[in-house]
Amino acid sequence: MKKVLVTGGAGYVGSILLRELMQAGYEVVCVDTLMFGGDSLIDIWHHPQFTFHKVDVTDFEALDPILDSNDFFAYVHLAAIVGDPACKRQPELAQKTNWEASVHLLEKARENKVERFVFASTCSNYGKMADPGGMVKEDSPLAPVSLYAELKVKFEKLMLEESEKSPDFCPTSLRFATVYGLSHRMRFDLTVNEFTKELAMGKTLVVFGEQFWRPYCHVSDFSQAIMTVLEAERDKVAYNVFNVGDTAENYTKQMIVDEILKQIPDGKIEYVVKKEDPRDYRVDFTRIREELGFAITKTVPEGIAEVRDIVSLGVVQDPEEQRYYNIPHGE
Ligand SMILES: NC(=O)c1ccc[n+]([C@@H]2O[C@H](COP(=O)([O-])OP(=O)(O)OC[C@H]3O[C@@H](n4cnc5c(N)ncnc54)[C@H](O)[C@@H]3O)[C@@H](O)[C@H]2O)c1
Repeated sequence: MKKVLVTGGAGYVGSILLRELMQAGYEVVCVDTLMFGGDSLIDIWHHPQFTFHKVDVTDFEALDPILDSNDFFAYVHLAAIVGDPACKRQPELAQKTNWEASVHLLEKARENKVERFVFASTCSNYGKMADPGGMVKEDSPLAPVSLYAELKVKFEKLMLEESEKSPDFCPTSLRFATVYGLSHRMRFDLTVNEFTKELAMGKTLVVFGEQFWRPYCHVSDFSQAIMTVLEAERDKVAYNVFNVGDTAENYTKQMIVDEILKQIPDGKIEYVVKKEDPRDYRVDFTRIREELGFAITKTVPEGIAEVRDIVSLGVVQDPEEQRYYNIPHGE
């Protein structure tokens, strides 16, 4: 049975991936500090294919014995300080986690002859589009406008261009769209989830930058993309980068609001002007579809429906609880 290391596996993206991997017959070792708790792991805790280590990826003394004592087929590296606001709040920790620990993991993967290395990057790398009417592709210029994206760009570059290429190693960077939808570790600080939650709770949704474009992708499709890469022929994915999402799923914030209002028609919206979040990008996702045959299974309206339901039916009792947010909620 092939063994996969998932760093950050208790998180929003990782907790779905762990289950997909085990379902597909992989043995999974999850390393996570449980920054947002470990509820997402409870029902797989006793699974025979699952092992958990509460270890910080920046603590190499604790991490290396795990890396060295397992015969891993792949490292899927998700652990990070996630998002622009979280990195802005804790820049040193972001530097340590998102850059230094990533470099270390990459080195260990090569040293331990791990075949595959999948890095969770982001479409935020594109920053503000040079041509506002156009679409960015994998080879478009990168223009990060935050520490979060700068560190992703820097590591991606090291991994794909600057480190010595080896025929036995296969690193891949996935530039994920903005994610939404239900996960075992829920997040209500992501645009679709947050907007839907506010309106489902009967609050007035305050919106700024409604004209800006962004691509969106369901969290379960992130997992599918990672699985696709792990199972793809080496030559298609080695030292390669893929945008993850679907070209038809680019929306302005206004379009997201309009989609939510179709499902919560009495929702109240207030528009404000704020000089913040200058990210504005529409992304082309042809490469992953044509080269790897990847197709999304869910769209934004479906994500809105599921988030509306878990909030309005009380499946999540208190969506304002801090554990659903990556920065202090209400800041
Ligand atoms: N959510 C998105 O829209 C999005 C988009 C693009 C890329 N990504 C990337 O996907 C990855 C996962 O994101 P997510 O939404 O699941 O975030 P998340 O915050 O829910 O999960 C991150 C996990 O990493 C763990 N972690 C953080 N620092 C750690 C450390 N030093 N050692 C061990 N574990 C640590 C946390 O405890 C958490 O469980 C990240 O790399 C993120 O940058 C996310």
